[in-house]
Amino acid sequence: MQSKTVSDLLNQDILLQEVEVKGWVRTFRANRFIALNDGSTINNIQCVVDFENFDEALLKRITTGAAIYVKGDLVESQGKGQTVEIQVKELDVLGDSDPETYPIQPKKHSFEFLRENAHLRTRTNTFSAVMRLRSALSFAIHKYFNENGFYYMHAPIITGSDAEGAGEMFQVTNLDVANTPKTDDGKVDYAQDFFGKETNLTVSGQLEAETYAMSLGKVYTFGPTFRAENSNTSRHLAEFWMIEPEVAFMDLAGNMDLAEDFMKSVINYVLENNKEDLEFLDKRLADEDKKKPQAERSPMGLIEKLNFVTENNFKRVSYTEAIDILRNSKPNKKKKFKYIIDEWGADLQSEHERFLVEKHFKCPVILFDYPANIKAFYMRLNDDGKTVRAMDILFPGIGEIVGGAQREERLDVLKEKMAAIDIPEEDLWWYLDLRKFGTAVHSGFGLGFERLVMFATGMSNIRDVIPFPRTPQNAEF
Ligand code: 4AD
Ligand code: MG
Repeated sequence: MQSKTVSDLLNQDILLQEVEVKGWVRTFRANRFIALNDGSTINNIQCVVDFENFDEALLKRITTGAAIYVKGDLVESQGKGQTVEIQVKELDVLGDSDPETYPIQPKKHSFEFLRENAHLRTRTNTFSAVMRLRSALSFAIHKYFNENGFYYMHAPIITGSDAEGAGEMFQVTNLDVANTPKTDDGKVDYAQDFFGKETNLTVSGQLEAETYAMSLGKVYTFGPTFRAENSNTSRHLAEFWMIEPEVAFMDLAGNMDLAEDFMKSVINYVLENNKEDLEFLDKRLADEDKKKPQAERSPMGLIEKLNFVTENNFKRVSYTEAIDILRNSKPNKKKKFKYIIDEWGADLQSEHERFLVEKHFKCPVILFDYPANIKAFYMRLNDDGKTVRAMDILFPGIGEIVGGAQREERLDVLKEKMAAIDIPEEDLWWYLDLRKFGTAVHSGFGLGFERLVMFATGMSNIRDVIPFPRTPQNAEF
C-alpha cells in the first residue's frame, strides 16, 4: 500500500497496484469520473468509479469541495489529457460539502468574488498556482542568501522608531486598560501604551538590519512590514512582506549588482522548478489578453517575460538622465507628460516610471542618485550636496519593486539630516552609535515580496498574491 500525493502519482513512470490518495473533489462527472486535487499540483487526478460497485447514497456525497479518500489501481488512462488514472476500489467521504452552499462552484469566478472568499480561494487553479509560486519564491530567496554567505536576521515587529521617517505607522495599543498609563484627566494614554512607551508596527527592518551588517557583515531580513498609508491601489497593502539585505563595506554600485543578481536568481528558480504552475498562469494570461483590444495586449507572455528579465541586463540610469528623457518624450504621440517635471527635484509618478520601463527602455531599470529631498534621511549624500545614493528598481507592469541605498556612514552628516526633519537624536542614539564606533560604507535594499509575486505570476492586483490581504477596506478573516 502506498500513500502518495496527486503530483507523485501523475509523475509516476510505472503503474502501481493499490494506491491511496486523499484530496478534494473538483468535479464528479457522469457518476463515474472524479477529478481529484490535493494541492500538490495544478493538475487533478482522474478517479474512475464503477458505480455498480458502490452504494448510491455514498456516490451522492461525492460533490464539488468534498474531502474524500480513494484506494485503487493506478492504470493507463483512456481519456484525453492525462496519462494515468485511478481505477477506484474503495471510496470514502471524509468531509461532505453541500453543493447548494459551497461558494467555489466548478466555473470561472471573478477575483473580486474570490477575495471575499479568501479562505476558500486556494481551492481554485489560479490561486493554488499563485500560492505555490509564492512559497517557492520565498524558498528561493532564503536559498540565494544562504548560498551567498548572508545571515537571516529577525528584525522586531514592534519598534519605537520610524525607519522611513515618513510617519506612516500603526501605533501599538495595549488593551489591558488597567495597566496602561493615564493622562492627567484619567483617560488611557494611548501614545504611551507600550508599558509606558510609544511604539508602532515596523515599516521596515532596515535600521536594525544595519546594526547586524555592522557586525555580521552580510545579513538579510524577511518579515512582515506595515504601512498606514491610505492608498487604495493595486500595488499597495497595509501589511506586506519585505526582504531587506544589508551589507557592510558595499557601495551603491555593489548594491545594484547584488539586487540584479538576486532578482534574476529567484526568478530563475521558479522558471526551473515551477513549470506546471507557470504554464497554467501563462495560458490564463494569454486567454485574458485575447479579450483585450490590440493596443492593450501585453507584448510578451508571462514565461517569455520572466526569461527576458533573467537574460538581459537591467538598465542603470541616473535620476537626472531619466528626467531629461521624460522632458523630451511624448508618452502618447501627441502630448508631453501632463505634469512635466520642469523642476529638477520632483518625485517621479508611476506613469513616469512605467513610461521609462515599458516604452523607453523596454527592460527593468535601476534609477539611482535621486534628489536628497525626496528620499529618506539615512541615504548617503553625494559630493554634489543635492543628490543621494538611492536606487529604485522598476519592473515592467509593476513599477517600483525594489528601493534601496548606500547609507550615510558619516556621523556629522547624518545628524544634520536628522535635525533637518526633526528626528531627535535620542530616538536613534543606537543608530548613531554605529557611526561612532567603527563606521563603514554599507548598503542594502528592500524588495516588496508581493510585488515580486505579482511579477512572477502575472497577477495584476496585489490583493491576489497574499493569502489574507490587509487594505483600508479589508481586514476580515
Ligand atoms: O521603498 P521602500 O519604502 O524602502 C524601504 O522601506 C527601505 N527601508 C528598504 C531598504 O533599503 N532596506 O520599500 C521597499 C519596497 C518597495 O520598493 C515596494 O516594492 C515595497 O517595498 N512596498 C510595498 N509593497 C506593498 N505595499 C506597500 N504599501 C509598500 N510599500 C513599499
Ligand atoms: Mg520606495
